[in-house]
Amino acid sequence: MSQSEEITQQDPESVQTDSAPADVVTDHNHKLYIETVGCQMNMLDSELVVADLRKRGYELTQNVKEAETVLFNTCSVREHAEHKIYSSLGRLRYGARKNPKKVIGVMGCMAQKDQKLIFQKAPQVDFVVGTGQLAQVAELIDKARVNHSQNRRSRELAVGLGRKDGKREEITNSFQSYDPLRDPEMRPSPYQAFVRIMIGCDKFCSYCVVPSTRGPEQSRGPREILSEVKVLADQGVKEVTLLGQTVNSYKHTQDGKLYRLSDLLYLIHDVEGIDRIKFVTSYPKDMTNDLLEAIRDLPKATRYLHVPLQHGCDDVLKYMKRGYTVEDYRDMMHRINEILPGCSVSSDFIVGHPGETEESHQKSLESIREFRFKNSFIFKYSERPGTKAAERFEDDIPEEIKKRRNNEMLDLQNEISEADNAEFIGRQVEVLVEGPSKSALKASDDSADSLAEQLMGRSKCDRIVVFDGNPRLAGSLADVEVIDVTPTTLIGNIITREYQHQSGASLPILQ
Ligand code: 5AD
Ligand code: SF4
Repeated sequence: MSQSEEITQQDPESVQTDSAPADVVTDHNHKLYIETVGCQMNMLDSELVVADLRKRGYELTQNVKEAETVLFNTCSVREHAEHKIYSSLGRLRYGARKNPKKVIGVMGCMAQKDQKLIFQKAPQVDFVVGTGQLAQVAELIDKARVNHSQNRRSRELAVGLGRKDGKREEITNSFQSYDPLRDPEMRPSPYQAFVRIMIGCDKFCSYCVVPSTRGPEQSRGPREILSEVKVLADQGVKEVTLLGQTVNSYKHTQDGKLYRLSDLLYLIHDVEGIDRIKFVTSYPKDMTNDLLEAIRDLPKATRYLHVPLQHGCDDVLKYMKRGYTVEDYRDMMHRINEILPGCSVSSDFIVGHPGETEESHQKSLESIREFRFKNSFIFKYSERPGTKAAERFEDDIPEEIKKRRNNEMLDLQNEISEADNAEFIGRQVEVLVEGPSKSALKASDDSADSLAEQLMGRSKCDRIVVFDGNPRLAGSLADVEVIDVTPTTLIGNIITREYQHQSGASLPILQ
C-alpha cells in the first residue's frame, strides 16, 4: 500500500491546484535527465526507472536544460548529499518557470524522508516518490504533464509509511521492491549487473536513516532472483552483484524451505554464463560459517567481503548500537582468514561520532592496522534528524577535528593498501575485463585509434587492475602479471596462453 496523496497547498506559480484526469500528453520532447546520488541500490533504482521510461520512448540526455523530464534520485545518509540535491533543484527553478512543459520529480531516500517538505523548499517539483513506489514514476510523469498542459499543478506524494506508523505488515507492504526485467541495451555495462536480493534494514544503527528511508527488511524469493539472473546471463552478463543493505542477513522461505545467502550463492553458481558473483554490503554479526564455506567451495564467488566495522572503539560502537564489539569483529576476521585465506575485506568508518575522544579515534586507526582492510570508505559523522543519535547526542566534534581525523584514517588506509597491493608484484591475477580504463577513455578523445588500449577490470579479490590490451577482451577473464601498484590499483601486463607456453614460466597465482 502506498500513501499517495495530492498536496492542496497553493502554489504561487499555478492557476489551479486540482488534479486533471490522467490522459497522456504527447506534445513534449522525450529527453530525460536524471541525477543520481548515493549507493549502488540507488544506481540500480535509477537504471530500472530509466529502462522503463526508455521503453516509453524517452531518451537520456546529459543536458538538463533541454530535458523536459528531470528526475533526481536522492540520498539522505549524510546531510551533504541532500544539500547537493536541493541546490540542483534551486538551479532549475528559473528553467521550470520558463518552460511549463518541464516535469520535475524527486525520488529515493530524501523523498521518503522529507516528503512534503520538498514541495515547500522546491515548489517547482511535481512529484515526490519514495524508494518503495518507484513503479509509479512513469504514471506520475504523465499525470504532471496533463496538469501542466491545463495550466494546473498537482503535487503528488507517493511514499511508504514511517516505521512507527502502523503494524509491521502494513509498513512492510508500503515498501515494494522494484525489479522489472531489463533490456540488454539499457544496462550501463553489458557484462555486469546489480541484482537486488533484499530491501530495507532492521538493524537501526543509531546514526542511520536507512531503516526509515528504505523501510523494513524484506528478502526477495530465490525463484524470482534466479530467473532474473538467468535472463541477465542470456543477455551476456558475466558478473552479478547481489545487493542488500545487510545482504548476508538474507532469509526467505519458499515452498517450505528456508533459503539463506549461502543457498542463493549455490543456486546462482549453476547459472551458465555467469563467471563471477559478488554481494554487498555485509553485516558483521551475520557473517556465518555456512556463507564463508559457500564462498570457499564456489569458484565463481569473489574472495571479497565488504563488512563495515564503523569504529574501532567499543564505547563508540555501543553509542552506535552496532550490536558487536571489536573482539566480536576480530573473531569474525579469524574465521574469514581461516576459511578463506587471501580473501580481501573492506570497511566503512565514521569519524567524529558524538563522544569520540582522541583515544577512541586512535583505536579506529589501530583497527585499520590490525585488520589491514583492502580499502575503507571513511565518512565524517553527519547528524540525521529522526535518528536515535540525533535525539540522544549533541554533534559535538568540531568540523576541523572531524576533517583531521578523516585525513589520518585515509592516510593510514592508503599506506596499508599500497603495502598489501605490493605483495602482488610478480604474481598473476585473474581479471574480469570491464573495458577501457578511465584514463584510456579520456585519451581516446584526442588520440588516433590503436588496437591496444589501457583496459581495466577487477581481480577475484576485487582489486582494480589496469593493463594494455585489445578492447575486445571486455567481458572475458584474462590473466595479468602485476608489475607495479598504487594504493588503489594493480598495474600489469596481460599474459596470453602463448606467452605462458613459450616462456614456460609458471607464475604463482593470487586471487
Ligand atoms: N553520518 C556519517 N556517515 C554515515 N553513514 C551512515 N550514516 C551516517 C551518518 N549519519 C555511513 C556508514 C555506512 C555508509 C553507507 O555511510 O559508514 O556504512
Ligand atoms: Fe544503516 Fe546500520 Fe542498516 Fe547499515 S546496518 S543500513 S548502517 S542501520
